[in-house]
Amino acid sequence: MLRDPRILWASPHGFAFLVFKMHPTSLSKYRPFPAVALPDRTWPDQTLTHAPVWCSVDLRDGNQALPQPMSIEEKLDFFDLLVRVGFKQIEVGFPSAADTEFNFLRRLIDENRIPDDVTIQVLVQTREPLIRRTFEAIDGAKRAIVHIYNSTSPLQRRVTFSDASRDSIKQIAIDGATLVKQLVPSVPRTEVVLQYSPESFSDTELDFALECCNAVIDIWQPTPERKMIINLPDTVQWTTPNVHADMIEWMCRHLSRRDSLLVSLHTHNDRGTGVAATELGLMAGADRVEGTLFGNGERTGNLDIVTVALNLNSHGVATGLDFSDLQSIRTVYERVTRLSVPERQPYAGELVFTAFSGSHQDAIKKGLDRRGRELAADPATPWGVPYLTIDPQDVGRSYEAIIRINSQSGKGGVAYILDREHGFDLPKSMHPQVGKRIYDLADELGRELSNDEIRDAFFEEFVNIATPLDVIDYELIHQTGERGLVQCKASILIDGEKKAIEGHGNGPINAFVHALEGAGLKDFKVTDYRSHAIRGGSDANAAAYVQVQHDDGSLLWGAGVDPSIEMAGLKALVAAWNLLHA
Ligand code: KIV
Ligand code: ZN
Repeated sequence: MLRDPRILWASPHGFAFLVFKMHPTSLSKYRPFPAVALPDRTWPDQTLTHAPVWCSVDLRDGNQALPQPMSIEEKLDFFDLLVRVGFKQIEVGFPSAADTEFNFLRRLIDENRIPDDVTIQVLVQTREPLIRRTFEAIDGAKRAIVHIYNSTSPLQRRVTFSDASRDSIKQIAIDGATLVKQLVPSVPRTEVVLQYSPESFSDTELDFALECCNAVIDIWQPTPERKMIINLPDTVQWTTPNVHADMIEWMCRHLSRRDSLLVSLHTHNDRGTGVAATELGLMAGADRVEGTLFGNGERTGNLDIVTVALNLNSHGVATGLDFSDLQSIRTVYERVTRLSVPERQPYAGELVFTAFSGSHQDAIKKGLDRRGRELAADPATPWGVPYLTIDPQDVGRSYEAIIRINSQSGKGGVAYILDREHGFDLPKSMHPQVGKRIYDLADELGRELSNDEIRDAFFEEFVNIATPLDVIDYELIHQTGERGLVQCKASILIDGEKKAIEGHGNGPINAFVHALEGAGLKDFKVTDYRSHAIRGGSDANAAAYVQVQHDDGSLLWGAGVDPSIEMAGLKALVAAWNLLHA
């Protein structure tokens, strides 16, 4: 019998255990990625205190990775969105590559859609006809970054360029840079800023990447007043962010005319570390960051600029980018890209400010309550709520979505929803009883409960429970001369039979308890009682909560809701009585 090689052990009863293990050749074909010899690296001790120059590459790198690229109208909408967010540099396409790209750029320029403080960027390979066409495309723009690139890594040299030598690859960069320099005067109305990328930088030998960059710098002769951009792409992530940071620090130390350059990062996300590589790259000395909204881009995507910017915000650093209405940004993005933002995407995902687990819900509720008190005493109190790195309101989220209820949830979460959503401020010792009942219900249903379902379940299980005992009517007579003494005359139903009862006490509840005692219905004592007006309700109802202890020692809460606060109290007591005798 042929045996599945993954089955490591089969029991005599026929159970087989499948154990998935990578095949040995899946490992032996890989090699460790070499570290950078930089023992005096300084980036690990840096702190990010200011924002980089941001450049969105959504309309180029992002667009080229879409299953269905954006139409011109969609690109125009996206461009306007990027401007609204606050980008001052926007790569608008590869105009020499396709007519749509060319025509889109012409519309931006000819229809005057580029604000004066926004610089467009265009990408082009270091090939003569493409470079010439690119200059035709930017003619008339106020300011444009012309971005040329050629691949430099040994893998690209060997495979894509059929074993091209280092010198021939460097020559491609030199020829391209020289032609660009010649063509700048052909667009006199346009201030041209120059950018060079050794594509696949992060797997290029550092000395060779440096040689190519320095060759281009020598041709373009930037000055501190007229800087050029050296973009160092992590085109494919092959290794860890610390090695990337070492490469950036090494380049920043060795590039010629460093004071005349903006060193730019362009990380992709193959290892899921695009954000980390960018953050460490900034610590290593880079000045500028290219990326996309929500990380759209080739394969696993480009760097997600939203995350890096909001990470900086969360450390108190202003970024110049406005993500305060992240939902509407996401809506435009999802419409024009036809992609969706995953539910766990940092800051932007549907679920990222939501706690399902009981202990997290409890801690968040405590944190928000405490913050309310601390802010009242000192409006400058720093943010500090467990499990929430930022205030969800900063990105346009309300607190409503923070706590959601499923079977993993706890008492605090249910109380939080009843409080924030429905205006019921349950006594703390009532939380476990209500919480348990409601998350048991979620467990039975096997799904999350909506806020309205939670309210309905609370009413069904705890509020105004009126069988077998019900209070139909009552009259309270305040005894003159005896402070607080009240006579309660009530009409009740017990097991379907109407009865008139009457009792005295130091308050309505107490008097009603004595009335029940007179009717032989008292086998409990009242151990706690609270009432309040229901917050935010359209009808001005009151809520009351009564805890009773049965003669056998068991404790139970009931709740009452009524326009009259006194009747709400009696109904709460009756509800507790009914629950006790259920
Ligand atoms: O990822 C990359 O290397 C690029 C370059 C063209 C900058 O997108
Ligand atoms: Zn890229």
